[in-house]
Amino acid sequence: MEKFYTTTAIDYVNGAPHIGHAYEKILTDVIYRHFTQRAEDTYFLTGTDEHGIKIQKTAAEKDISPKEFCDMNAQKFKDAWKALDIDYSQFIRTTDEQHAEIVQKIFKKLVEKGDIYKHAYTGLYCSGCEAFLSEKDLTEDGLCPDHMKKPEVVQEENYFFKLTKYKDAIIKHIKTNPDFIVPSFRANEVLNQLENIEDISVSRVKSNVNWGIPVLGDEEQVIYVWIDALSNYITALGYDPDGNSSEKFKKYWPANVQVIGKDILKFHSIYWIAILMALELPLPEHILAHGWITIDQTKMSKSLGNVISPTAVLEAFNLDIPDPFRYYMASAAPCGKDGNYSDEDFKEKVNAHLANSMGNLLNRTLSMLVKYFDGEIKPEFLGKNELEEKALETVKAIRHHFDYFEVQEAAQKIIELVDITNKYVTDNAPWTLAKEGKMDKCGEVLTNVLQVMTVISSLIYPYCPNIASRMAEQLGYDLKTKLDDISCNSLRAGMLIKKEDIKPVFLRMDSELADKKK
Ligand code: MSP
Repeated sequence: MEKFYTTTAIDYVNGAPHIGHAYEKILTDVIYRHFTQRAEDTYFLTGTDEHGIKIQKTAAEKDISPKEFCDMNAQKFKDAWKALDIDYSQFIRTTDEQHAEIVQKIFKKLVEKGDIYKHAYTGLYCSGCEAFLSEKDLTEDGLCPDHMKKPEVVQEENYFFKLTKYKDAIIKHIKTNPDFIVPSFRANEVLNQLENIEDISVSRVKSNVNWGIPVLGDEEQVIYVWIDALSNYITALGYDPDGNSSEKFKKYWPANVQVIGKDILKFHSIYWIAILMALELPLPEHILAHGWITIDQTKMSKSLGNVISPTAVLEAFNLDIPDPFRYYMASAAPCGKDGNYSDEDFKEKVNAHLANSMGNLLNRTLSMLVKYFDGEIKPEFLGKNELEEKALETVKAIRHHFDYFEVQEAAQKIIELVDITNKYVTDNAPWTLAKEGKMDKCGEVLTNVLQVMTVISSLIYPYCPNIASRMAEQLGYDLKTKLDDISCNSLRAGMLIKKEDIKPVFLRMDSELADKKK
């Protein structure tokens, strides 16, 4: 695989990031890091979506300029992703100058092509959705079903994008590419939505919404939400509608996978695809629509007061690395399904998987190597590894899961390998072998386990980069090994580790030691 380009949705900056936003960024980061183990060249884009009436209103309430408000909140997203070790290549803000300029050019090109036209319109606008809704989208009481607010009646002359022109081509694309929308069960939903699509409004009158990118040559209009927001995926790379796109754009576009939440699938699998078709650009290979994260099985909402910030979780549990939270979030739900966060479940799951099963396995195996062999792997310990087949099978299975972006399912495979290896230790009881003086066999068992631990460190790396590098360090293993080169014989004969260098890679969250560290 030569290149891999992935993107996330860009978040609204009305408030601070919550764990729903974090879920998406972690999921994408895990996918991205996995593909750095497969592709030559990789790129990961995330960012913030900063224009629109909501920002304009909130900033006005706070008596600051929209830009100041966006600067403040965009920083909160950047800080949170740093704390979570989200290894993005670029953070785009829709207020970036380059973005705004390219969006204007894209708009102009589509006007010239006849795909954008001006039209007087009366519509129902929900500022929560930043979208026009049709009567049939509303509840019986005429409210927006997502925001439970009455939409405003807006009467304006706006620019419209000819979405209907691309309807048949989009239907054809979805039908002939069954893996375009992931998971595939969502494709039918999109095909149903396509039945009733109409052309969409892509600008607003400046007197109603002024916090947006102005339409070139029409001072009275600003480009409204979706053309601005969706274009970020190509403006970030340096796309130029006039034919002078950057090398970066040529190298990375089309995206391999664009990760978004299920609530905005329609915009990505219909609007975005139509815009790309209108620009005559290649389409992304996959759109991955993830599910939603609930808190204690309840929808997160400001009114319920149950919105959780990802950094608050790290602080509450005094975590010095984000790995446990990343692991928990990334394995919160099967691909495309909803997941749940609860403090109790978080603690239990990461203690069981990362501390008790995985961390302990490495710790006690290294300790036995020191106890019985002064930390040395002797040449006679190396040979056919009874665990090799299972370990390499796991690598293959994980690769397969990631081909379908099944991040939780892949994590389960890693833990299965950890469990099998733990069972191998119990079954072979190296402590008994040592007591009985069967030292070669004892050394062989320990070495076999440590070889598998190198594989496990590579596999857990996308989820837990810090724990993986702590493991690799103690094993003297190069974490940069590509998935294709993973083997069960990375460790060579010689001194592996001294007693004082053995450290737990992750402490149980409620252990005394972890408490002391706090
Ligand atoms: N700005 C638009 C996206 C434009 S993309 C060109 C937007 N922003 S958002 O802040 O509302 O949502 C950003 C992403 O976070 C979306 O993919 C959305 O699905 C996701 N999530 C927001 N709340 C979520 C949960 N509770 N759980 C999981 N993901 C959720 O939409």
